[in-house]
Amino acid sequence: MSKDKFTVTAALPYANGPLHLGHVAGVYLPADIFVRFLRMNQHDVAFICGSDEHGAAITLRAKKEGVSPQEIVDKYNAIISKSFRDFNISFDIFHRTSSDIHHKTSQDFFLKLHEKGKFTEETSEQYFDEDFQQFLADRYITGTCPKCHNPNAYGDQCEKCGTDLSPTELINPKSTLSGKTPVLKTTSHWYLPMALHENWLREWIKEGKLDGVQQHDSKMWRNQVIGQCMSWIDGGLHSRAMTRDLDWGVKVPLPNADGKVLYVWLDAPIGYISATKQWALDQGKNWEDYWKGDRKLIHFIGKDNIVFHTVIFPILLKDHGDLILPDNVPAYEFLNLEGDKFSTSRNWAVWLHEYIEAYPEKEDELKYVLTSIAPESKDSEFTWKEYQTRVNSELADILGNFVNRALVLTQKYYEGFVPAKGEMTAEDQRLLEDMREIPERMSKLIYAYKLRDAQAEAMNLARLGNKYLADQEPWKLVKTDPKRVETIMNIALQITANLSIVLQPFLPKTAGKIGGFLNFEAGNWSAAGKDDQLSAGHLINAPEILFQKIEDDLVDFEVNKLKQTNEMETSYEPQKEAIQFDDFTKLDIRLCTILEAEKVEKADKLLKLLVDTGIDKRTIVSGISEHYKPEDIVGKTVQVLLNLEPRKIRGIESQGMILMAEDAGGNLSFMIPEKGFDAGGGVR
Ligand code: MF3
Ligand code: ZN
Repeated sequence: MSKDKFTVTAALPYANGPLHLGHVAGVYLPADIFVRFLRMNQHDVAFICGSDEHGAAITLRAKKEGVSPQEIVDKYNAIISKSFRDFNISFDIFHRTSSDIHHKTSQDFFLKLHEKGKFTEETSEQYFDEDFQQFLADRYITGTCPKCHNPNAYGDQCEKCGTDLSPTELINPKSTLSGKTPVLKTTSHWYLPMALHENWLREWIKEGKLDGVQQHDSKMWRNQVIGQCMSWIDGGLHSRAMTRDLDWGVKVPLPNADGKVLYVWLDAPIGYISATKQWALDQGKNWEDYWKGDRKLIHFIGKDNIVFHTVIFPILLKDHGDLILPDNVPAYEFLNLEGDKFSTSRNWAVWLHEYIEAYPEKEDELKYVLTSIAPESKDSEFTWKEYQTRVNSELADILGNFVNRALVLTQKYYEGFVPAKGEMTAEDQRLLEDMREIPERMSKLIYAYKLRDAQAEAMNLARLGNKYLADQEPWKLVKTDPKRVETIMNIALQITANLSIVLQPFLPKTAGKIGGFLNFEAGNWSAAGKDDQLSAGHLINAPEILFQKIEDDLVDFEVNKLKQTNEMETSYEPQKEAIQFDDFTKLDIRLCTILEAEKVEKADKLLKLLVDTGIDKRTIVSGISEHYKPEDIVGKTVQVLLNLEPRKIRGIESQGMILMAEDAGGNLSFMIPEKGFDAGGGVR
C-alpha cells in the first residue's frame, strides 16, 4: 500500500470526571489500535487528543463538588492523562483546551470567520435565572423533551431520544441552578447560519461516502453515522449560536462582548488543531502539514458527538477556507455495564484508573475484551463474567496455550534452537497459505474500522496454530520421526512470530512479550504472514505464562463492588444550599393525628386524609397510597407542614403536607414521634 498521511483524533474527554470503560471501548482503544496499525504500515500519522475543559459540563461539576472550575479541570485532566499513559494509549500529544495556545487558536479561528462574514449577529430572548443572574444555555436548563417526553432533557439535547434541542423547545423548563422556572431576557449572540451549507454538505456526504466512488475502504462511513447526519440535515439546519453568556470559557475576542465566551462545541474541536500546534512546536514540525493538503483526517468519537463532527465542525473548517475536512468519522455506539447504562452520577461504572491500579498486569486482558465487544454497529455490554470467559477460554486457552506449547517444545527438543524446515506436506502448505492470508484480511478490516473482526482474525492465527499442533502431535512423533517434528516445530514457531506482529496493534504488551520470548524484533506490517520470520539455528528464550486465568473471586468481587457503591452513592442527593435560621422557622411543622383516610378515586397514589392539627381539623391529600392502607393509619400521629400554600389536587383542596422519610429504594414512612405525643405539638 502506498504511504498516506493521517491526522487521527480521539474525542476530547470532558475534564469533569474520570474515564470509564465505555469511553475506552468506544473511542480511545479503537483509535489507538488504528493508529498503531497505521504506524506499522509506515504511514505518516499524528494522533491527537486532550481534555475538553470548557462548557457547562465543567462548571456544573465544579458547582456540585463545591470548588472552582479551574480546580475541576486540573484534577480530572491529571487523572485522565495518567490513566491514558498507564494504559498505553499512544497519543502523540494529550493537550488541554485551557492552554493559552488553545485560547489564542480558537479566538483567531473565530475572528477569521467573523471577518469573512460567516456569522450573523442576532438578538433574541433567552432563559435567564433571576436568582443566579445567569443566562441558561445547554445543560443549565432541563425540561421535558418535546419529542419523547423524557422529563430530564437538557437545553441542548435529549439524551433519551438523541434529539438536539434548544432551551425554548423544552416543555416546562427549569433552571438547574435554582430549580426555578426561568424568565426570558434579551441577549445577543453570534450564530452560524447552517442552512446555507445544506447543499454542499449533502453532496459531500453522499458522493464521498455513500456511493462507492471511494478509492479506499477507509472512506466508507458507517451507516449509523450517515443516517444520523442525514436525518439532521433533512430535519432542516437552523442557525446555531456560537457564543454563550458565561464566565468560563474562551472569551469572545470582540469589543462589546463582555461576559461572553465561545460555545464549547466551537472551541473544543478547534482543540484538535491547537493540540497539533503544540505538538508541532515541541517536535519542530509545521502544524499546517497536518491540517492542510493531501492528508486524511479521521475523528474517532462516540455516537452522541456525531453531528458536531459531521456537520458543525466541517462547516467551520470549510468556512475557514484552507483546512481539510474529515475523511471518515468512525463513531461508536454505547457500551453498557452489567445490564445497565454507565452512569457517573450513580457510580455505575468500571473506572479505567481503578482497573489499572487493581490489575496493573492485566492491561491486555482488558484491551482484548473491550475490542471483542466494541460497540461498532450497535450498543454492547461489558460483564465481568464475560471478561473472565474471554480471558480464560480465548487468551489463556488458545493464544497463551499455543505460544507456550510451541516454545516449551522447542526448548525441550532443541534446547531453544529453531529447527530447520524439511519437506512439507499438503497440510503444511495449506496452513502456510492461511497464515499468509490472515494479515491481508486484517488489513482490509482495519482500514474499514472493523477492529472486532480484525482482532478475531489474529486470534484465528493462534487457533490455527493450536489445531496444527493438536493434529500433528509432535510429542508422539518425536520418537518415531524426528525429522518431521523439526518441520512441524519450525512452522509452529513461524506462526508464533507472526502472532507477535499481527497482535501488535491490539495487544502491544503481549506482542512485545512474545517477541521477547522468540528473541525476535517484529517488523512492519508488510512482513506479516511470511513463513521465514525465524531462521534455522536462531536461539530463542525461555517462555513465561502469558495470561493467568481469572478466578471466580475476581468476578464476584467486582460485581459486588459495583452493586455496593451503587447502593451507597446512588440514592442520596448532595446537601442542598445553606439557608438561614429564619428560613427554617418559617416552616410550621406540627404533630397531627389522622382521623379519617380514604383512597382518592382514579388516582393510584393518593389518599385523602382528615387530620386533627390541635388548632383545627383539615383535609390533606397525600401521595402515600402505595405505602399505607387507609385502614392501617387512622389514629396515627404524624408530622405535617401546616403552612404550605393550599393546593387543589384532583379537585380536592389539600391544606398541608405530610412529612415522610424516604429510603434509598424510594420507600416512604411516616415520621412518628418516639414517645406518644398528641395532635398539636410542634416540630423544631
Ligand atoms: N467533550 C466532548 C464529550 O465528551 C467531546 C468533545 S470532542 C471535540 O462528549 F470535538 F469537541 F473535541
Ligand atoms: Zn427526547
